[in-house]
Amino acid sequence: MNSSLPTVTIRQLALRNGQDKPEVWIAYKGLVYNVTNSRLWKTGTHYEHWAGQDLTDELAEAPHTDEVFSKFRPIANLLKE
Ligand code: HEM
Repeated sequence: MNSSLPTVTIRQLALRNGQDKPEVWIAYKGLVYNVTNSRLWKTGTHYEHWAGQDLTDELAEAPHTDEVFSKFRPIANLLKE
């Protein structure tokens, strides 16, 4: 939770899946990241993982740590409802 950031709902996140809207967002540990400019998330897919979702639990399947998020600034808190 970062109180200086706005809130995004799971529905709003779901639309940024790389298919329905131009922006590509992913959520990790309660924060939403805009990965639109990443060549590794083009069209919303990343090695069989889909954007527009909370991917916290899926990081365990990745060959990398959450250090990959360090180059992105969170844009919002994810509101789980
Ligand atoms: C089978 C699963 C996955 C594979 C094979 C994979 C592979 C990769 C590779 C090769 C990179 C670039 C090199 C690196 O930084 O290590 C990368 C970057 C990244 N990955 Fe994954 N990844 C997987 C799952 C995930 C998941 C589940 C998430 C989100 C929780 C994630 C988020 C990211 C992010 C944010 C980047 C940085 C993108 C950039 O720098 O443009 N990855 N991944």
